[in-house]
Amino acid sequence: MVKPKPVRIAVFPVAGLGTRFLPATKAVPKEMLTVVDKPVVQYAVEEAREAGIEQFVFVTGRGKHIIEDHFDHAYELESQLEGRGKKAELASLLESLPKSGSVFFTRQQKPLGLGHAVWCARHLVGDQPFAVLLPDDLMVGKRGALAQMMDVYNEIGGGVVVAAEEKPKSELHRYGVFATGRTNGKAIEVTGMVEKPKPAQAPSCLTAIGRYIIQPEIFAELDRKDKGAGGEIQLTDSLARLIGKMPFHAAMTDCVRFDCGDKVGFLHANLAVGLSRADIAPGLREALRKTSG
Ligand code: G1P
Repeated sequence: MVKPKPVRIAVFPVAGLGTRFLPATKAVPKEMLTVVDKPVVQYAVEEAREAGIEQFVFVTGRGKHIIEDHFDHAYELESQLEGRGKKAELASLLESLPKSGSVFFTRQQKPLGLGHAVWCARHLVGDQPFAVLLPDDLMVGKRGALAQMMDVYNEIGGGVVVAAEEKPKSELHRYGVFATGRTNGKAIEVTGMVEKPKPAQAPSCLTAIGRYIIQPEIFAELDRKDKGAGGEIQLTDSLARLIGKMPFHAAMTDCVRFDCGDKVGFLHANLAVGLSRADIAPGLREALRKTSG
């Protein structure tokens, strides 16, 4: 088998308004809300780096400039930390910074849907495979979700790989849902894909979650700007048109997904990540005992 082209660039759609989190998101982008002590978007960037991504494209919108600041040096802060001997804090700040010249920002000028957001990155991505990470989907596991998907991508010889998860029938209308063929380990052949189907039209209970490895041929499909579910230009619809033209698989990972675009999901993520951290777990457990008791 020919080794597929490596995936070195990732797109992070971060233009959403975050209306579900108002008033918190009035002046602060929802992607900057923190899970324990890190903004949600940073988890996605770290996951991408772990998977070998070297270039990071953010598709932003109005009021999102602090995301740019977050992924840049903060000279005053850094020199103050240095002056006060706060070596660990300084090291962690510097360690999380992507390399100079590897971060790109472009704007989605109108909220026309996820497909449109990805299309806005077309000139930055160019003619190479790329990953898309939706930061709202926080993936927690020993090995990152995208890294696990890269394994699948390399084993099956490239094409499209979308992270997948089984959901109960009552929730399928909120997701992209796959029609499936043969299963090969963690990879499931995809024969169809539909965005936010009505319960009777859902082809299976296997849903797409916000991690994708995509080939550049998608941009010609997105160029059509066809509107789909909810009147939006859906990524799912363009992905579906690639089925049959290249290998196309859904991939199960062993990560736990938290929907940080939802209040309960976001709080759940904070608790789960907090309880997994040795520095926080004992105090958090005690606080929870007092609260629920
Ligand atoms: C998007 C995608 C959908 C996918 C979901 C995963 O939907 O369009 O196919 O299942 O992310 O989180 P959204 O959550 O933006 O409505």
